[in-house]
Amino acid sequence: MQPGDDLVSRLVTNHLAAGELDRADLLGILKLLLIAGHESTATQIAFSALSLLTDDGLRAEVLADGGALLPEFVEESMRFWSIVQDSVVRQATEDVRIGETLVGEGESVMISLLAANHDATVFPRPERLDIHRDASGHLLWGHGAHFCLGASLGRLEVTLALGSLFTTLPTLRLACEVGQLRLREHPVFHSLTELPVAW
Ligand code: HEM
Repeated sequence: MQPGDDLVSRLVTNHLAAGELDRADLLGILKLLLIAGHESTATQIAFSALSLLTDDGLRAEVLADGGALLPEFVEESMRFWSIVQDSVVRQATEDVRIGETLVGEGESVMISLLAANHDATVFPRPERLDIHRDASGHLLWGHGAHFCLGASLGRLEVTLALGSLFTTLPTLRLACEVGQLRLREHPVFHSLTELPVAW
């Protein structure tokens, strides 16, 4: 296979061949790109599309005026679906008190982004997907030192994909009952096994 003008080829020809990366480093980067960079956005696109496919009013509103409200929809549907649910784990490097709970040095804590994104004191009626709420404080990109490096890219990818999908295929519809959709077992992402559509 010949190297092309793509990121993987460049990593191989410029960095692996030059001895700047070893095979293990390269595989680590590729795995990260595939899971953090690709599965994340693909999963989000499917769930956001599902919201538009199952609510005609929402679809009409979001796609009106060339998709002017798409960015608000993308942000709110990220909060709503919370595809990264309970996979953010931290280990305390010293004793920390959170509310009434003491997390001892060395103990691990699993953080639920889903619970944070559905906290009714921050997002009233969290079970409603409401594009007119301010969803910008959601935690789906994480928080602090490990805040998602690909957040801007991810936002852009989901927005562009939905805009072009629904503009190119205006008759796009769900090709099964919502109740037939199945969730996939995955250590990081809450995702669908498939999203059958027709047009
Ligand atoms: C809908 C799309 C995405 C979601 C929901 C998402 C979510 C997240 C979350 C929650 C974290 C923090 C994990 C933690 O604190 O332990 C994170 C970190 C990260 N994300 Fe994303 N991400 C998305 C897209 C992307 C894309 C497109 C890329 C790159 C191409 C990317 C690269 C990364 C990297 C490298 C980190 C680790 C940052 C660090 O530890 O300093 N992500 N992401």
